[in-house]
Amino acid sequence: MGLFQRKVQQEQEFPPLRHIAIIMDGNGRWAKKRGLPRTAGHAAGAESFRRIANYCRTLGVRYLTVYAFSTENWKRSQEEVGGIMTLLRKYLEEALRDMEKNKVHFCFFGDLSRLSPDLQELCRDAESRSRDYEVQVNFCLNYGGRDEIVRAARLFAQEVAEGKRQPEELDEAIFSQYLYSADIPDPELIIRPSGEERISNFLLWQSAYSEYVFMDVLWPDFGPKDLDEAIAQFHRRNRRFGGAK
Ligand code: FPP
Repeated sequence: MGLFQRKVQQEQEFPPLRHIAIIMDGNGRWAKKRGLPRTAGHAAGAESFRRIANYCRTLGVRYLTVYAFSTENWKRSQEEVGGIMTLLRKYLEEALRDMEKNKVHFCFFGDLSRLSPDLQELCRDAESRSRDYEVQVNFCLNYGGRDEIVRAARLFAQEVAEGKRQPEELDEAIFSQYLYSADIPDPELIIRPSGEERISNFLLWQSAYSEYVFMDVLWPDFGPKDLDEAIAQFHRRNRRFGGAK
């Protein structure tokens, strides 16, 4: 079945998901299986990301959030970290070139200050030049869920110290506004390929009611059919949000 037919079939049954998040895991193992350097796995992972981002758009998914680099990933070799940064740079340069064709709003979750100044500038440019587009891709870069929550608490505390906020005002809705994801809905579905079944510090706050789907396929091999399968699993779940049914 072609992509378009699949989209039509899915739409007849269920409306599209609003927000899907993905832990792009398994690039290293994919490369190792082929006797290639880990950076070749990340390059294949970046291709897989392109494919899936396009497919999400075909399905009408408004927000896609991907874990591209965690606060812990700095522990990897300089060569591997540099390889991932080069791929991101290349992707963003392309995205800036094709901005009007792709019509995607690029956002970045994470502390970008540790990235190289040129990459920081590319991120800022991509973000500001794309902000009027509806479909949104969030890249988690130097991102950690705990770090995000601590940062939000610090921002709120700062506003209390400045007299702009009262501690009693704080509730879940207000706290959410201090997170990178302020103003966007929580993901309904979080996918982790590669056979690992961990959260790894990804969207800790936002995943309170997300459905997790863990899949036994390495990220560079992950294609539209796997996304269909994850969405089908999602629709088979019975979401109760703490209520009874
Ligand atoms: C996890 O797999 C993957 C990463 C830490 C990096 C993900 C980055 C990319 C897919 C490229 C980013 C660029 C764009 C354009 C999205 P792993 O290396 O931990 O795999 P392993 O568990 O098999 O070793």
